[in-house]
Amino acid sequence: MKKVLITGALGQIGTELVPFLREKYGTENVVASGHREKDVYTEVAENGPFELLDITDRERLAEVIDMHRIDTVYHLASLLSATGEEDPQALWAVNMDGLNNVLEAARSYNCAIFFPSSIAVFGPDSPKDKTPQDTIMRPTSIYGVSKVSGELLCDYYHSKYGLDIRGLRYPGVISSAALPGGGTTDYAVHIFYDAIKHGRYTCFLEENSSIDMIYMPDVLKGALNLMEADSEKLKHRNAFNVSAITVTPKKLAAEIKKHIPGFEIDYDIDPVRQAIADSWPNSLDDSAARREWGWQPQYDLAEMTKDMLKVLGERLK
Ligand code: SER
Repeated sequence: MKKVLITGALGQIGTELVPFLREKYGTENVVASGHREKDVYTEVAENGPFELLDITDRERLAEVIDMHRIDTVYHLASLLSATGEEDPQALWAVNMDGLNNVLEAARSYNCAIFFPSSIAVFGPDSPKDKTPQDTIMRPTSIYGVSKVSGELLCDYYHSKYGLDIRGLRYPGVISSAALPGGGTTDYAVHIFYDAIKHGRYTCFLEENSSIDMIYMPDVLKGALNLMEADSEKLKHRNAFNVSAITVTPKKLAAEIKKHIPGFEIDYDIDPVRQAIADSWPNSLDDSAARREWGWQPQYDLAEMTKDMLKVLGERLK
C-alpha cells in the first residue's frame, strides 16, 4: 500500500486531491500538509492525517517523510503567476527551494514524486497554437521560469539518481471546492461565482485571450493515471502537456449565458496578467500524453460549464 504526502494540500488542487487519494489508498495512507496555522482547522486536516509543514524547511520535511514512512510525494506547494510578479524572490523560495528540498528528501527516502508544471513554461517565442510537447520555451514570467527550471531539475534527479518523478503541464484549472490563489487563469473560476451571485462579471483579461483550461475531475484523474502508468511506456515521464478545453473569456461567457440568459460580462484589463496571458500558448498539443499513457479528458466546455453551475449553484444558494 502506498504512503502519500501531499504538500500544498489546502490549495485549489490539493483540497480535492486529498479526498480523491484517500478514497483510493485509504485515509490513513494519505498525509496532507499545509503551512498556515489556520490550515489545521480545515476539513482536509480534520478528516485524516495532517502535518504543519513549510516547504522551505528542509529538516521538517525530512522529519514528516520519515515519521509517516512516505513513499510518494504529490508536491503541489507553489506560488502562481500573478502573485509571483508581485514578489519574485518569495516565488523562487517556495517554488525552487521548496522543490529542491522535496527532491533531496526523495533521494534520502527513495520516494516517487508528482510535480505539477504549467503552460507557463512556454513563452512568446513558442509556437502559439497547438503548442507541441517538445519545442522552444523561454518563459517571461518568474512563475514560468521556476516551472521550466523545476521540470529540468526533476529530469536531472531522474537521470542522475534514478528517482521516479512524473509530472503534467496543467493549463488553467477550473474547480468549485477551493478558489485558485493568484493566477492568470483565475478569471475562469471567478466568472462562475459572479455569474451565480451577481449575474455579471468584470474580466481582467481581454475577451479574445485564448488559454487552455481543464476541469478538476480531469486534473485528478490525470495525476493518478500518470503516476500509475507503466513506466516502460513513458518516453517523456515528466512535464506532459495536457489539455481539455480551449477557451476565451468571450466564449466562456457565451456558454454561461446559455444557462443564465441575463448574464453580462465586461472588461477591466489588468496589464500584468494580460501580459502573462499574451506570452502563453493559445492552445496545447497533448498528443504525447494521449499516446504514452492514455490521457483522455472527460469534460469539454459544455459539460464543465453545466457541472460548475450545478455544483456551485447548490453551494452558493
Ligand atoms: N493557473 C496558473 C496561473 O495562472 C497557470 O499554471 O498562474
